[in-house]
Amino acid sequence: MKRIVIVGATSGIGRATAHLFIEKGWTVGVAGRRMEKLEELRRLAPDRVFSEPIDVTEPDAPAHLLSLVHAMQGMDVFLLCSGIGNQNAELRPDIELATVRTNGEGFTRLVCAAWEYFHAQGKGHIAAVSSIAGTKGLGVAPSYSATKCFQNCYLEALAQLANLQHLSIHITDIRPGFVDTDLLRGGNYPMLMRPERVARDIYHAILHKHRRLIIDCRYRFLVFFWRLIPSWLWERLPIHN
Ligand SMILES: NC(=O)c1ccc[n+]([C@@H]2O[C@H](COP(=O)([O-])OP(=O)(O)OC[C@H]3O[C@@H](n4cnc5c(N)ncnc54)[C@H](OP(=O)(O)O)[C@@H]3O)[C@@H](O)[C@H]2O)c1
Repeated sequence: MKRIVIVGATSGIGRATAHLFIEKGWTVGVAGRRMEKLEELRRLAPDRVFSEPIDVTEPDAPAHLLSLVHAMQGMDVFLLCSGIGNQNAELRPDIELATVRTNGEGFTRLVCAAWEYFHAQGKGHIAAVSSIAGTKGLGVAPSYSATKCFQNCYLEALAQLANLQHLSIHITDIRPGFVDTDLLRGGNYPMLMRPERVARDIYHAILHKHRRLIIDCRYRFLVFFWRLIPSWLWERLPIHN
C-alpha cells in the first residue's frame, strides 16, 4: 500500500487531492493549520488517514512532519499544497513578506525535510503545487509570482541534485492555472477550473512520476506564448488578473 503526506490539505486543491487519494485506497497523512478540517478528512477512513497540525512558517514544522510519517509507518510521496496569494498592487510590505514566509521560507523548510527523509530512505517522491504564475513577473502580485518562480527553480535544482547524487528521488512540479478555491476569494477569473478536476491531474502526475505538469491544456497553450513575449513588451502589457 502506498503512503502519501499532503501538507496544505485543509482546503482547495490540497483537500480535493487528499479526498482522491483516500478514495483510491492510499494511506494518507494530512496536514495544515486548521485542525477541524484535518479531523473531517481523518473521519473519512480513520484506519488509514492520519493528521498532524503543521504551520510551514514555524521552525518546528519538520518535527511535526516526522511525527506524522512515524504514525503512518513511512512515506512514499510528499505533496506540498500549502500556499498563500494576494493581489497587492499597493505593494503592502506585510502582504509581500507574509507571502515570502509561506511560499518561500515555508516551502523550502518542508521540501528540505522531505528530501532529508527520502535521502535516508534511499528513495522517494517530492511533489509541490507551484503555479503558472511563476512563468513571468506579475505586476499585480509581485511576491506571489516571484515566490512561485522560486518554487519552479528550486524543484528544477532538486531534480538535478537527485541525478548528480544518483538518488532515486523523483520531483514533480505541478503548475495549475486559475482554480476556484479560497485563494481567489471569489474574484472574477477567466478559465476557472474546479479543484476536483485539478486533483485528478495531480493524481495522474504523481502516479506516473511526471517531472512537471501545467494544468490544463488551455494554460499549456497560454504559457507557451507567454514565454515567447520579450521583457520590453511584457512590461507594457495591461495584465490585471
Ligand atoms: N487557486 C488557484 O488559482 C491556484 C493556481 C495555481 C496555484 N495555486 C497554488 O495551489 C496551492 C493551494 O492553494 P489553493 O488554491 O488550494 O488555496 P486554499 O484553498 O487557500 O488552500 C491553501 C492551503 O494552504 C494551507 N496553508 C496556508 N498557509 C499555511 C501555513 N502557514 N502552514 C501550513 N499550511 C498553510 C492552507 O491550510 P491552513 O490554512 O489550514 O493552514 C490550505 O490548506 C497554493 O500553493 C497556491 O499558490 C493555486
